[in-house]
Amino acid sequence: MTIIENIFSRKKKLSIEEFVNRTLYKKKIGYYQNKNPFGKDGDFITSPSISPLFSEMIGIWIINFWESLNKPTNFNFVELGPGNGQMCRVINDLFQKFPEFYKSINIFLYEKSTTLKKIQKRKINSSKIKWISNFNNLKKGPVIFFGNEFFDAIPIKQYVKKNNIFYEKFVEIQKKNTLGTILKKASKKDTEEILKFKVLKNLNFIEYPKMGFQILNKIIKVIERKKGGILLIDYGYIKQQKKSTLQSIKNHKKQNFFENIGQSDITSLVNFKLLKEYLHKKDLDVSNIVTQSFFLKRVGILNRAEILSNKMSFRQKADLYIRLKRLLHPKIMGNLFKVILASKNGKKKLGFN
Ligand SMILES: C[S@@+](CC[C@H](N)C(=O)[O-])C[C@H]1O[C@@H](n2cnc3c(N)ncnc32)[C@H](O)[C@@H]1O
Repeated sequence: MTIIENIFSRKKKLSIEEFVNRTLYKKKIGYYQNKNPFGKDGDFITSPSISPLFSEMIGIWIINFWESLNKPTNFNFVELGPGNGQMCRVINDLFQKFPEFYKSINIFLYEKSTTLKKIQKRKINSSKIKWISNFNNLKKGPVIFFGNEFFDAIPIKQYVKKNNIFYEKFVEIQKKNTLGTILKKASKKDTEEILKFKVLKNLNFIEYPKMGFQILNKIIKVIERKKGGILLIDYGYIKQQKKSTLQSIKNHKKQNFFENIGQSDITSLVNFKLLKEYLHKKDLDVSNIVTQSFFLKRVGILNRAEILSNKMSFRQKADLYIRLKRLLHPKIMGNLFKVILASKNGKKKLGFN
């Protein structure tokens, strides 16, 4: 059986969302089920692998969030989609330097890929850290959820509006075993859901993170019950896009969406205005959307780099600042990546805006 036949398993067409979901996560053949995609030898590199300073800043921000809740003696931290476990390792080391905080915290990792779970378990060895697949299994006390490039890895739906009628994009096997897209009238339920959002009004092309919102909804219920918040960092936009933001990446290069199925990562850009409207509708306190560069600088990444670099050789300093530039430069990751916080009885704002 070819990989395409396996993905479709006798179905003629799949919604874009389902097609991407199977391509990335189907047992045995899905991209995230088979390989470690991170790093120089993989297909892409993310902030925690660019510099440990990224993870340290997230750690410092979390301790600050805990302090703003009056240092509860039981506190939960959930990392959403921990990838190769790099951030969790750095953050766990950092947390240990703050004994009162470390005594209070329970760390949970929420991961869908069995292969990545194995990689994480090899990398992180601490009784503080547990893996969960159900958010109801957290310990007592408030919670902070954090995800870096979590939301952009969750498949989205795509719709086209013609003469006021919504059509959903599907993928189908066409002649000679090639793939193509077709439009099918969208369900009434989906259309009604989309129409609830101001940000999506008057658009003729819409990307809608239905699956992402389902996960977010579960998270929000936990936040409402336990108090706390969610901090998300992602590759995303504010000005509404008129065309598909889905992209397929292999060996650090963009390629045709239908090439190397199961061997390449597929992501989409996060619509931060839509995300903000969704979080508002759920009655959470939502921060402004800020850039990654603004966020990391405000938490103190430049000061930390300066302190570290005092003891470094010239070569080490150069390496540190090249990595920082990658995280902070507006044309590299600094502005493309955005940050948002939503909370309940916690911090209304990111702490500085
Ligand atoms: C692009 S990677 C980012 C990894 C990591 N946060 C980083 O910055 O390096 C996306 C991560 O989210 C996980 N993921 C995607 N969808 C998920 C879901 N529905 N539930 C749990 N984990 C998921 C992936 O398996 C992977 O670990």
